[in-house]
Amino acid sequence: MKKGKKLYEGKAKIIYATNDKNLVIQYFKDDATAFNNQKKTTIEGKGVLNNRISEHILSNLSQIGIKNHLVKRLNMREQIIKLVEIIPIEFIVRNVATGSITKRLGIEDGTVLKEPLIEYCLKDDKLGDPLISEEHILAFDWASKTEIDEVKKMILRINDFMIGMFRGVGIKLIDFKLEFGRIKIDGKNEVILADEISPDTCRLWDSITEKKLDKDRFRKDLGDLIPAYTEVAKRLGILHEQSNVSAVNVTKLSSVKRKKK
Ligand code: TMP
Ligand code: ASP
Repeated sequence: MKKGKKLYEGKAKIIYATNDKNLVIQYFKDDATAFNNQKKTTIEGKGVLNNRISEHILSNLSQIGIKNHLVKRLNMREQIIKLVEIIPIEFIVRNVATGSITKRLGIEDGTVLKEPLIEYCLKDDKLGDPLISEEHILAFDWASKTEIDEVKKMILRINDFMIGMFRGVGIKLIDFKLEFGRIKIDGKNEVILADEISPDTCRLWDSITEKKLDKDRFRKDLGDLIPAYTEVAKRLGILHEQSNVSAVNVTKLSSVKRKKK
């Protein structure tokens, strides 16, 4: 597999072409942004952890029949993924109210929702990813009714699976963001899960202490983001307990990789 030119650079990832027109390389950066880029920094080792955690979750989802773009992880920071046409919508799934919904609707932080709530945001940084309704999606042809129905079914299965997976390791899945993409498989148009699922795109609280183990550590200036992401990876069994991947070790590993290139 040969790495080609940069096709797209987002806030936390870069997409490169390959010599196969159907496959691209997804590179996880260490950049962290919040509140639509108003706050940004670089956190050494974050990309390495997100690459591993996202690979773990997407491979598990694939095993329960949720088709997704992951082909395989290439190295510490890169994965080969199927090229899809990203649907320009961020699908937010909430089990517990926190973050933007509490401010927008005056809901008390930590309110457990009766049913998972799906919200739609238009993926447009210039507009600040505004909240939209299903009717907007249909009115402006951002996705078809069939696509939305299909995506909603997948979202509920993904949510059920992830709640269980995290509960098993003492973590509450509070909310998360998903993206989906269009692809032709055996001549048939399909919608599959894309992007990443990691502590950057989920809110994860320790089940007992409610300690935040996600990007809120950066959003809210709580510090210790790398130890929190490492804790998630260890509990999921991705990093061995004894490997003790501290911020320093992750930094060393990622700089060794960079020097080699
Ligand atoms: P919010 O409370 O800020 O709307 O975020 C809800 C969830 O979606 C939270 O887990 C963070 C995630 N999210 C992203 O991954 N990317 C985004 O651009 C936004 C706004 C939220
Ligand atoms: N990813 C979004 C941003 O950069 C928002 C967030 O995750 O809070 O700005």
